[in-house]
Amino acid sequence: MEKIFINTPYTKSEILVGQSWDSVSELLPEAGVVILTDDNVLKLYGDSFPDVPVLSVTPGEVSKKLSVVESLAAKLMENGIDRSGFILAIGGGVVCDIAGFLAAVYMRGIRCGFVSTSLLSQVDASTGGKNGVNLGSTKNMIGTIRQPEFVVCDPSMLSTLPDDEFLSGLSELIKTAVIGDKDLFEIIENSRKEILERDSDMLTMLITQAVSFKSRVVTEDEKETGLRRILNFGHTFGHAIELQRGIKHGFAVASGMELATEFSCEIGLISSDEKNRIISVLNYFNLLEQQYITESEMEKLIVHDKKKTGASIHFVFTEGIGKATVKKITVSDILDFYKRFRQKR
Ligand SMILES: NC(=O)c1ccc[n+]([C@@H]2O[C@H](COP(=O)([O-])OP(=O)(O)OC[C@H]3O[C@@H](n4cnc5c(N)ncnc54)[C@H](O)[C@@H]3O)[C@@H](O)[C@H]2O)c1
Repeated sequence: MEKIFINTPYTKSEILVGQSWDSVSELLPEAGVVILTDDNVLKLYGDSFPDVPVLSVTPGEVSKKLSVVESLAAKLMENGIDRSGFILAIGGGVVCDIAGFLAAVYMRGIRCGFVSTSLLSQVDASTGGKNGVNLGSTKNMIGTIRQPEFVVCDPSMLSTLPDDEFLSGLSELIKTAVIGDKDLFEIIENSRKEILERDSDMLTMLITQAVSFKSRVVTEDEKETGLRRILNFGHTFGHAIELQRGIKHGFAVASGMELATEFSCEIGLISSDEKNRIISVLNYFNLLEQQYITESEMEKLIVHDKKKTGASIHFVFTEGIGKATVKKITVSDILDFYKRFRQKR
């Protein structure tokens, strides 16, 4: 089992990769615990949950909204949860995002911890303390940054994950490799078969590498005023595609990474050879669904991007596999690139 720490000026969080999730009771306080999960995870793993009240939401993005948070808060109150309470999230990125937000705002903040059950949440979503819900058609508009006390990442839980969810998580893993870890990228390139077979040792190693990288970034820049922005590689275009097409987060981010890689190559930041390696890995895992959206849809959604400041966006480029850079560019430069890209297809 690997223990990775996030130490920020205000909090300390530990991420336990390879720890068996059924020992999570040892990490919980004796009283005041409520579990938050979704209906799929409850059906698969509910029989082995710790013996505390369980609140379950409808699976998927549809639950990431304020009305769900409000009704969950009412249920916490009904269960007598006070300031000493503890929310244990057992689920994927959606459940962890909702639980982290609810824990941050309920009675001005109660404790929380996560058992992270999807590949996407193990390699990315549950590390770093970002939480929140969507506002109408805009992703993650309402939320906070607050670290859970612990995150348990048990790769054995990934054996029940549907194939498309597994691939969606791989996309965020590939993102981590492209922006910050050349060795991880080479491992992914050379171990495609073991990855698709969900080899447990391989997954533990990949998740550990991804979490270690993200923890370093978050420890240096918890509030995303600088370095942390690189984690948004592929997300400017990706979020727009996710919202417009309603496709899974990882698949949308993969298309966003393809676009950002092409853009990086166009302005000479990355060689054609490296660009082709990135796109070839995304293609190998069938992540590029070619779900492009029209230029006017892209414009509308990018204008609403919460990372926009005025007419500019902090856009993340790759400077070669394992290295990323953020440049403040205008929305119209981004849209012009998108137009050129679409004309080539
Ligand atoms: N907070 C962050 O830093 C951050 C980073 C990246 C993504 N996210 C968010 O994460 C969300 C996506 O996360 P996700 O892909 O985990 O989605 P998800 O939580 O909806 O889980 C995907 C699906 O897999 C099911 N599932 C989860 N674990 C399972 C298991 N072990 N076995 C079988 N089924 C299982 C869920 O019920 C759901 O149907 C998005 O809302 C995205 O915005 C947040």
